[in-house]
Amino acid sequence: MSSIDLAVIGGTGLYKLAELQDIETVQPSTRFGEPSGPVRIGTMAGHRVAFLARHGEGHSVPPHKVNYRANLAALQDLGTSRVLALNTVGGITERFGPRVLACPDQLIDYTWGRISTLCEEPGSEVLHVDFGEPYTRSLREVVLAAAARAGVALVDGGCYGATQGPRLETRAEIARMRRDGCDLVGMTGMPEAGLARELGLDYACLAIVANWAAGAGPDPDEVITLQDVLDNVTAASAGLPTLLEAL
Ligand code: HPA
Repeated sequence: MSSIDLAVIGGTGLYKLAELQDIETVQPSTRFGEPSGPVRIGTMAGHRVAFLARHGEGHSVPPHKVNYRANLAALQDLGTSRVLALNTVGGITERFGPRVLACPDQLIDYTWGRISTLCEEPGSEVLHVDFGEPYTRSLREVVLAAAARAGVALVDGGCYGATQGPRLETRAEIARMRRDGCDLVGMTGMPEAGLARELGLDYACLAIVANWAAGAGPDPDEVITLQDVLDNVTAASAGLPTLLEAL
């Protein structure tokens, strides 16, 4: 199998890459079990690109049940060393309102009970990977440069807080996350980023802000609906094809 230049993992509301040409579909099985669904491999701007829907193409896998290890291992086994994660998130601080695209540079993990390491099985090598900079700087720089070339607004930096879900957060939880220094909140950023580091993959996050997190927007009583989330993801994703082509 010839190598893949970039793998893209799609989040909520992002179940395929319409720009992929000549698609070949594979159903990988990995040493960690089955990934969330098929991997679609195709061509984009002359490069081989793989796409995997994190929650399955029918959005049937909730954040805490995603087999993050199998998803990443499947992409690595297919020959990719670079993963761009698309994550739908809520915005907490001023720069991260609905429909903003951001490339965060830090994260805080609030998830629990997920398999978060490769060192799970007895006898597996114990890894203590450096994670001070959780996203791969060189890949982030390439993504930011591609956005600039494509004329797509992309906020450089921000701290992603990964929560357990699948429920959304309370206002008090978001207030605490703001005090902790989080700019964005999502349910799938971890353990994915940590596992990518353990696997030796280059990994960056392109966060799509779908809503103000609970109590973070101008209307503190606002109720977040799935329809608003999906509408904002669709609107915010308008620039994605151009950005990915440039990337
Ligand atoms: N919280 C957590 N995850 C999310 C949100 C949110 O407000 N919006 C989209 N994904």
